[in-house]
Formats: sequence, structure tokens, C-alpha cells
Amino acid sequence: MKWWQTKVAYELYPKSFLDTRGQGTGTIRGIIERLDYLASLGIGAVWITPVCRSPMVDNGYDIADYTDIDPSYGTMADMDELFTLAAERGIRIVIDLVFNHTSDQNPWFLESKKSQDNPYADWYIWRDAKEDGSAPTNWRGIFGGSAWTWCEERKQYYLHTFAVQQPDLNWANPEVRKALYKAANFWIERGAGGFRVDAITYIRKPDVFKDGTPDGEDGMVSVHDMTANTPGILDYLHEFKREVSDGHDIFTVAEANGVSADELKYWVGEDGAFDMLFEFSHVNLEFKGIETWCRPDPWTLSDLRTALFNSQEATKDNGWYPAFFENHDKPRCVDHFFPQGTDPVRAAKLMGLLLYTLRGTPFLYQGQELGYSNVRWDDISCYNDISSHGQYEFALSEGFSKEEALACVHAFSRDSARTPMQWDSSANAGFTTGTPWLPVHENYREQNVEAESADPDSVLSWYRKLAVIRRNLPALKEGDFTPLLEDSETILAWQRTCGDHKAVILASFAKEPQSYDEKLTEGLHVFLTNVKQHEEGKLQPFEAVLYVND
Ligand code: GLC
Repeated sequence: MKWWQTKVAYELYPKSFLDTRGQGTGTIRGIIERLDYLASLGIGAVWITPVCRSPMVDNGYDIADYTDIDPSYGTMADMDELFTLAAERGIRIVIDLVFNHTSDQNPWFLESKKSQDNPYADWYIWRDAKEDGSAPTNWRGIFGGSAWTWCEERKQYYLHTFAVQQPDLNWANPEVRKALYKAANFWIERGAGGFRVDAITYIRKPDVFKDGTPDGEDGMVSVHDMTANTPGILDYLHEFKREVSDGHDIFTVAEANGVSADELKYWVGEDGAFDMLFEFSHVNLEFKGIETWCRPDPWTLSDLRTALFNSQEATKDNGWYPAFFENHDKPRCVDHFFPQGTDPVRAAKLMGLLLYTLRGTPFLYQGQELGYSNVRWDDISCYNDISSHGQYEFALSEGFSKEEALACVHAFSRDSARTPMQWDSSANAGFTTGTPWLPVHENYREQNVEAESADPDSVLSWYRKLAVIRRNLPALKEGDFTPLLEDSETILAWQRTCGDHKAVILASFAKEPQSYDEKLTEGLHVFLTNVKQHEEGKLQPFEAVLYVND
């Protein structure tokens, strides 16, 4: 097995991790200070969301310089030290490559927008206005509003899949691709252990740009439906593999909204472009089509099972699965997958057990190990997340009331995943001595690293246990995956087997006690459960249990 297949990975949101300067936002030195904390969680790879120079319109996903550190985070010397000190603890640092777009303050764009015939003129996606002066197509950007913005200087529109300040790069231009590969190689030379590749399904644009059938009252269609996963995209990605990842002991994991489990084989594995792919069907259960917060679809446990098991099946012989239930764009899992009123500690532990027992590399997200829940702020103005504002405005334009629109934000805002890390019960949870850029969650006095470290029944202690178990049990580390109880409406279950080693995982999503056939666990004993006492053949509400024969 490769090193990254046996590790637990951690997604770290640096702006909210630890501030060592009293400025209200996290720093690279803050990460260095807490490397031992990460090591105590058994982490072997840390994916840090972007720390490159950026105006921070989208919290670093708008990059102005791919090979420089944003001053708010520190310096390149800090980053080099981070690589070195992390490596000493067996941790590799994973860099976030944001290659679909740059910031509008990137020098490439500043040049490109000057005229239609400068050396960078063709580095972005520029188009003339329609005859009436309106945007070239009726595409809506992912954060809301038109995906096109007029540039008076150049007298053309440019395309931005995301915010106005995030112009899309023109991957059809070989010069652009070369510059991006150069930036990626810069990070490999500095010691990167891998890359998380952002929004990669959008890099190839269709040959002909045309209007789509409107999907909302605004007469627009989501740009996602018009440009995601355009045929030919894999040619670019294989080139990326040849020019960047081949020959290095690193891993790549791509964010691939719009790629389904049955397409995975072309994207990952021996003949694929990446080692792993973040596929979203299991965390987008309420969005069968595009992610429109005011129109969630109902979902059932079977939908969750199908999504998870399809990914397991798709990566069985080819590629490898990056398991995750949270990231910096998603709600907290204790709110996302459970009915209101569920015991949050039990729910958090259940999700942890699933995360660490699926076949693949678990990606734990900052705060998940403490059992974080969503924030519910009183007014939209309290929210920082650009997509929360876009979705709120869209809901209003679709006729929803302010209260209804805010309820959608409560359920899905990305800010819930971005509140500061809760280290202790001191002011601002020990995250900063200044004013935190996002309010600390109100529960920080009880839910923090210090308090949870001292409590053997806490979510944090559970995650520490899980890391050891996963490392030591061959069935979990390298075993095959076999689905169990596929028709159950309330229980998720599977088996992992490696030679004579066997593990069975059962997790109930029901409010009422459930029973199951004891034959499933014959010859095995209970190794871990999130309730006080497991009873054979029965699962208490939201109980998760791990049976093994070792
Ligand atoms: C990805 C990132 C998200 C960002 C977007 C634009 O989806 O995960 O946080 O806003 O790309 O870069």
C-alpha cells in the first residue's frame, strides 16, 4: 500500500485554526504550534486550504500569486518550517491548488484585462457582448448573479464560474497550463506531500457557448449545468499528471462536483488522472441537481447507503476512496445527517465510526473531532461566506420570505464549518487574543480541546481511539468491503475482511431501538460502541458499534 492509503488525513482551515498574532485570523505559526495536537489525532497528512497571496474575497480561493504566502498567514520561511517540522512528526503537508480561476488581482488578469491583444489577452475566458450589450450567455455563477462581468477597459465580458473577483483561466491556452504546472512543481520542490485540486471539473469549457434553459425566475441557468465535466477535460488532467505528479511520492485528490461514481474509473487509479476524487453524492443528498439551498429534496437512509456503497464499489479494484462527511463548504455532520434533537455526541461518534471504517483514506475536517455543530446567526449580515449571501438573495428572488431564506442559510451556510477552533474555555476559545474574524461558537466553554482531552467519553477521545484502532486492525486498514443489510431503512452496515481478520460495523439512524439478526456478528465481539452498553441483536437510537474477531 502507498503511505497515504494507510494514514488519516486532516483538512485544516488555517484562517480559523490558531492566531499567534492577535489579529483575529489564524497563522502558519499557529499550525506549527499545534502540530503535536494533530499528531495526537494520528494524522499523517494535513490538507491546508489556500494560504497563497489573496485578497480573500473567497477566503483564499481567489489567488493573486501561486508561489507566495499571504502576509496575513506569515512568510515562506514559516511555510518551509511547517513542512520540516510536520515531516519530523510523520505528517505531510498537502497544498490546495486552485487552478480553475485566479483572483482578479492576479497580475495575469490585470494584464489580460488591459486590451484584446496583449501577451496575456488569451489567459482568461473573454467574449463579446450580445448585440443588445447583455452578457454572452444566460449562465448564473455558482455564488449567484451572472457568471459574466463586463470589463470597460477591454470592452468585453469575462467568465467567472464563482465570484466576480474569480475570473476563470483559459486552460485551452498551453501557456496557461504551463504556468500552472510550474506553480504546482514549486510546491513539490518545497516538500508538499500532495495536492487537493480545487473545482477541477470546470476547467474545460464547451467549444460553443450558448444559452441554456432557465432553471429559475431570474431567466438564468447554473453555469455548472453548462460547463461541468465537459468532454475532453481528461486530456488536460492527464497532462497535469505527466507534468506534475508522475514520479513523485505524493498523492492527488481532486474536488470533482459533477463526476458520478460510475465515471470514477476514468478519473482515478492506474489509468486515471488522480489518486483520489472527492465525489459529493453522499453529502449532497438533498441536492439531486444543482445545489439550491432553498429547494432541498427529501432523502432517506437508502440514498445515503447507495451513495456510499457506489463509491466503494467504484474504487474496489481501481483507485482509492477519500472518505469524508464534512469539509469547509458543508454543514456540520451532526446537523446534516440527523433529525433535530439527536444527542450530538452520539451522532458525532456514529459519523466518526463510519468515517474510519469505510475502505479508503479518512479525511477528518477541523472541528469535526470535537463534535462541532452548525451556527445559527440572527441576521444574514452576520455571515461572512460569499455563497451564503448569494443563496440568500436567490431565495428572496424566488419568493421566499427573509425568515425562510435565513433558515436555508442556517442549514447550509459554509460559515458553520469555518468558525474558530475551540482550544480551551478562555476568551475566544483560545483561538485569538484579538477579535475573531468569525464569532466563536457559543458552546466553546464545554466543547474545546482542553475539556475534551480530559474526558474519556468525549468526541475527541473517540477520534483518538478510532485512529489507533484503524492503524492496528488489518481488517480496517486494508480489508475488503462487503455491504450488509442493504434493504434496511434504518441501519447502515458493512463488513471488512482481510485474511482471517474480520470487522462488522452497524449504525442505526433511527430514533427508536432497532433489532438485527445476531448471525451477522457470530464469532465476533464488541470492540467499540457509542452507547454505555451494547445489547446483542439490538441497536439503541443512533447507536454505532464495531465488532471484530481480533
Ligand atoms: C471549491 C472550494 C470552495 C471555493 C470554490 C471556488 O468548491 O472548496 O471553498 O469557494 O471552490 O474556488
